[in-house]
This record gives sequence, structure tokens and C-alpha cells, in this order.
Amino acid sequence: MSIHKESAKRVTTHVLSEMKLKGEKISMLTSYDYSMALIVDRAGIDVILVGDSASNVMAGHETTLPITLDQMIYHGASVVKAVQRALVVVDLPFGTYQGNSKEALNSSIRIMKEASADAVKLEGGREVLESVNRILSAGIPVMGHLGLTPQSIHKFGTYAVRAKEDEEAEKLVEDAKLLEEAGCFAIVLEKIPAALATKVAQSVAIPIIGIGAGGGVDGQVLVIHDMLGITQEFSPRFLRRYHNLFAEIQGAVETYIGDVKSREFPNEREQY
Ligand code: KIV
Repeated sequence: MSIHKESAKRVTTHVLSEMKLKGEKISMLTSYDYSMALIVDRAGIDVILVGDSASNVMAGHETTLPITLDQMIYHGASVVKAVQRALVVVDLPFGTYQGNSKEALNSSIRIMKEASADAVKLEGGREVLESVNRILSAGIPVMGHLGLTPQSIHKFGTYAVRAKEDEEAEKLVEDAKLLEEAGCFAIVLEKIPAALATKVAQSVAIPIIGIGAGGGVDGQVLVIHDMLGITQEFSPRFLRRYHNLFAEIQGAVETYIGDVKSREFPNEREQY
């Protein structure tokens, strides 16, 4: 099979900001490999996130912390090969940007050069501002991520809803404004009260993409394995399952096993 990129009207960071201005909602899903990204892109998604959730759904780790920069680049490059239209954002993994802006820039440059991504995403506000500024100074678009930031799970101790208290909510609004002023093109808000997310979306001009942040934001993102029902045990209130692929794939595999054992597969027409 040959793999050619046909020119289609690409989604850019500029297109996303125009969508916010027009009140058109932004759709975003994760993908980690060529075949899935091909389907998601051809379906017309606006943004594909090569999330560090790959650590969970692709590698089976309990948290997002173990995934490496090399592994994120591998997933990113596989996705980029499939995509004709969507904007592709690749997560900077844990330990590649916090506390060292030079390393943040080097990590981002590797993602842009080796995966040919369109942008990078990182978690945090004021604490990572120096890294954000340095990455942006190289002309690399940055997407922020506030609220529940899974790379800090050992600090939070739980995946519960964030920013329910005034102090944390105020810091979150302040962080969103700081990221906007720095030049981030969009921010993901994860698992925070809907009213707070709406307030953030109204306080900044850049698009706010929510996951578990209600409908008052500028777009929505889900992990593709969760929305397709490939993952089973993860069932937060915000998740809408559009399919039960776990059961469908298991059923198909069971039928195949039965056909092999009973010698029903392959039949006369399925051989040379
Ligand atoms: O890694 C990821 O999939 C994410 C989404 C949950 C936004 O960051």
C-alpha cells in the first residue's frame, strides 16, 4: 500500500481561533497510531492529540509518568503519517519540560523535527511559564493543560474533580490568563466544575477545550479508547461511550477461534 498525503484544507491554530470567534465548537480526540489516526482524520476531527494517555491505553501503565520522549515521538510520527486535515498536537511527557526550560525547548524541537507535529502540549500554569516562553520563542505552538493534570497525580493523590475550592479556582483562572498572555494557542481544561470552565472560556480569547469541564467551553476532547468502549474499567461521569468495541472485538476473536478449531476457516475460497 502506498501512503500519500493529499492536500486538504488543513486545520491550523489560526483556524481554531477563528472557530472560537464564530462560536463553532472544536472537536478533538486522541490517537496514537497510523490506522486509528487515518479513521479519525477522515471522519473530520479538528484536532488529534497524541496524548501521553498512550502510557495507559497503549502501554498498560497505571499513570502517564513512565512514557518517554522517544515513545511519544514514535506515536506522533505514526499519527502524522495518516493525517491530511487535522491539527496534530503531541504531549510533552513527564520529566521533559518541568523545571528546565532549555530541556523543554530541546524536547519540543525533537517532537517537531522527528514526529513532524504541528504543536506540543504541556501541563501546568505559572510553574512551567519559563518553559512555555522558551518553546514559543522558537516558533513552536503550545497548548496548555490545566485542572486535573495527570502528570501531577502523585502530588494530588487522586483523580477527583479539581478547583472546587475558591483558592484553586482563582489560581486556575490566573494560570489560564498567563498562558494566553505568553502566547499559547489553546488550553485543555480537565475535570473541573462546569461553571468555572465556562468562566475561563469567557475570560480568555484563545480556545478552551474541555474534558469533564461541561458544555460552556469552546470544544471537547476524549481519549479515543474510552469513547469507543475499548477501555472498560474507566467510567467517569463525563465519559460518553459511543460504542462497545471491547465486546465487539472480543466477539469477533471468539468467532475466529471457533472457526479455526472447527476447521471452518479457511474454506475453499479462502485458499490458493
Ligand atoms: O493525554 C491525554 O490523552 C490528554 C487528554 C486527557 C486531554 O491529555
